Parts: sequence; structure tokens; C-alpha cells
Amino acid sequence: MRKLLIVIIGLSFFSFHSCQNESEKESSIKEETIVMEPTIIDDGRVSLNLNAMQKNHQLSNMRSHLEAVQEITLLLSQDNYDKASELAYTKLGSTTEMKLMCASFGDKGFENLGLEFHKSADIMSEVFKKRNKDNSLTALSNTLNYCVKCHATYKQ
Ligand code: HEC
Repeated sequence: MRKLLIVIIGLSFFSFHSCQNESEKESSIKEETIVMEPTIIDDGRVSLNLNAMQKNHQLSNMRSHLEAVQEITLLLSQDNYDKASELAYTKLGSTTEMKLMCASFGDKGFENLGLEFHKSADIMSEVFKKRNKDNSLTALSNTLNYCVKCHATYKQ
């Protein structure tokens, strides 16, 4: 009876110990996963070599661009051309803020494409004032084409 008790105690100690080992192993795997470098794939786009602050600033600006085209699409569907025209210029057009932003990344090709994009938004803003849905959608598509073109060419 005593022997059996010793065996049971012994076994439970052993299994407790082996469990502890497992969790130690798991946590060391997790640490390895965290410190692993992200895979950098050369997808042919030109890198702007931005620093962390520039990256953050650019992405927040981009999210605002996306929001603007979403709002403009809805406004056009509601025939609210005046508000759509105002948004097209203030959020996507050639404002001083946008021009400075495009120039701040130190790449002439990027800057020129950015400026063409903002000019297309100025034109879009004028087209909206004429209150023609087909022409408005064509102008929106023309501006979106610059989003597509730049994203295919540049990365952070
Ligand atoms: C002149 C270049 C240029 C133009 C024009 C441009 N973008 Fe971008 N955008 C970028 C770059 C560069 C990135 C970062 C991409 C990367 O590093 O993979 C980016 C990233 C984004 C992102 C990701 C944001 C995030 O938080 O991860 C969104 C959304 C976006 N752009 C929307 C737009 C929309 C919508 C338009 C047009 C209305 C637009 N962009 C026009 C250059 C541009």
C-alpha cells in the first residue's frame, strides 16, 4: 500500500514536471516568433525610404484620401454636387498643404505624380459643379486612376 502511494506521488510529480517543461518550450518558441524579421519581398516598386514619422504621416493622409472618395461617391449618388465639389477640392485638391506634403518625401517622380493627382482633383471639383452624373463619375475615375498608378509604382 505504501509502495503504491509512493509510485502515485512519484508519477504525479513527474507529469507536473513534464508539463512545466512543455510550457517553457512554448514560451521560447513565442519569443523566437516575435524577434523574427519580416520578409521583405522585392515587388518591383520604388521605395521612398521614409522614416517612421514620415510613414505615419503619409498613411494617415492616405486614409483621409480614401475616406474622401467614399464620401464623394455617396454625395454623387445623392446628387449633392456642391458638397462633393467642395470635398474634392479641400480633401484631394492642390491645396498648399498637399503640395508641401508631396514635396516633403524627397523623390521628384513621386512629387510630380502627386501634383498631377491633386490637379486631377481640382478638375474633378469643377466638373461636379456642372451637375452631370456621367461626367462626374468619369472625373472621379480619372482621379482614382492616379491612386492606382502611384500605388503600383511607389512604396514607403
Ligand atoms: C503620388 C502617390 C500616391 C497617390 C496619388 C495616392 N497614394 Fe495612397 N499610398 C501611397 C504610398 C507610397 C503608400 C504606401 C504603400 C506601401 O508602402 O506599400 C500609400 C498607401 C495608401 C493606403 C494605405 C493606408 C494605411 O493606413 O495602410 C491607402 C488606404 C491609400 N494609400 C489610399 C489612397 C487613395 C484612395 C488615393 C487616391 C484618392 C491614393 N492613396 C493616392 C502613395 C500614393
